[in-house]
Amino acid sequence: MPELSVAIFATDSDQRAVLQVLVDGTSVARTVCANSTMPQAATDSVIHRTQAFSPDVILVDIAGNVAPDALRAIEVLHQEIPGAALFAIGPMTHSQLIVNAMRSGVREYIERPTSTTDLLEAFVRLTSSRRKPGRENRRGKVFTVVNAKGGSGATTVAVNLALALQSVHSSTALVDLAPLGHCALHLNLKPAFTITDAISNLHRLDSSLLDSFMARTDRGLHVLAGTPTPAAIEPSASDFARLFDMMAGLFHYIVVDASSRLDGATRLASNLSEKVLLIAHADVACLWSAARVAQFLAETGSRDRFGLVLNRYRKVTGFDEAETEAAIGAPVLWRIPNQYFAVSTAIDRGVPVLQTGSTEIGRSITALAQFLTKDDLEVKRTAWSLFKTV
Ligand SMILES: Nc1ncnc2c1ncn2[C@@H]1O[C@H](COP(=O)(O)OP(=O)(O)OP(=O)(O)O)[C@@H](O)[C@H]1O
Ligand SMILES: [Mg+2]
Repeated sequence: MPELSVAIFATDSDQRAVLQVLVDGTSVARTVCANSTMPQAATDSVIHRTQAFSPDVILVDIAGNVAPDALRAIEVLHQEIPGAALFAIGPMTHSQLIVNAMRSGVREYIERPTSTTDLLEAFVRLTSSRRKPGRENRRGKVFTVVNAKGGSGATTVAVNLALALQSVHSSTALVDLAPLGHCALHLNLKPAFTITDAISNLHRLDSSLLDSFMARTDRGLHVLAGTPTPAAIEPSASDFARLFDMMAGLFHYIVVDASSRLDGATRLASNLSEKVLLIAHADVACLWSAARVAQFLAETGSRDRFGLVLNRYRKVTGFDEAETEAAIGAPVLWRIPNQYFAVSTAIDRGVPVLQTGSTEIGRSITALAQFLTKDDLEVKRTAWSLFKTV
């Protein structure tokens, strides 16, 4: 393994010294500079000094009292030194801090106080992901699918959306966060492991162990299956943050089926998402629930990522879309047709609609995937035109 060069940012001098000893102690990395100031702007002189070292990794220490400065520093470093992988060292007790750090550009969030072993594992994960061509420092995009009300179709949308994304970018994962996971059933998979195994092995989870916990469909979609027993374990939001952090380093797209789970885990996934798809039927009870769910999920994040997906859509007289959008605080992003026979047969057979020949619903979800990735330069537009729902 080639030696990694590491730049350290820590305002506390003792912590700076400790981090340097720990980094050098891994014997796969060496400290090239240790800085006491947190850069707050691209023009700060410490940025230029650090650029001169071309570090492979930048370690930023997030101490409770200077967290906002550290988060700003992460943003600036991410912007100005894009070739370096950002690792944050911070408390695991504040899930919002973890989410903010990840959104600012950190690749690894490591518990503070840290150890040589934690750092070594993170360095090894970085090196092994860099061996995969095209994934250097890239973070996958997360799309979370959540129900306004139970049975609205979250799993159907999540499974088929993941298949559509997989067909244009072969690095897609489907994560089943539902209180009782149904994704494997929809895909006729018999997973040997589930998300419960991944969470209970977080302390030693690396990319190859995570990979071994995932099932694969014949088209190569990776599936982290859901729990087969309700409330088998109650992981903390920090546990999920760690899991998503690793997933985002490994996959280009991550589709999360939250179905009707409304807790810290769904909030966390929503906060990390490019888009949160709120699945609802166009009826009063469902739309009433959609407003409440959106409010709950937005309490720890912004609403601008929410989009309503009206499933089993048909025109209803008197249904005012603009009024609905205003009441829920989210735009209607998509309308999926009502095709009960096609969908229920697909679920019963374990062959999703996207794989059962050309159907109206298959085309609709393919177009939704296309819409969600319209700004993604890595997906060639031609790929979509070649893609057929068969
Ligand atoms: N577009 C559609 N047209 C017709 N029927 C649909 C459509 N989408 C879903 N359904 C039906 O709705 C039912 C629930 O679907 P699904 O399992 O995807 O929902 P869910 O929201 O994930 O449910 P849960 O709350 O149990 O997680 C299924 O029986 C399915 O056949
Ligand atoms: Mg479901």
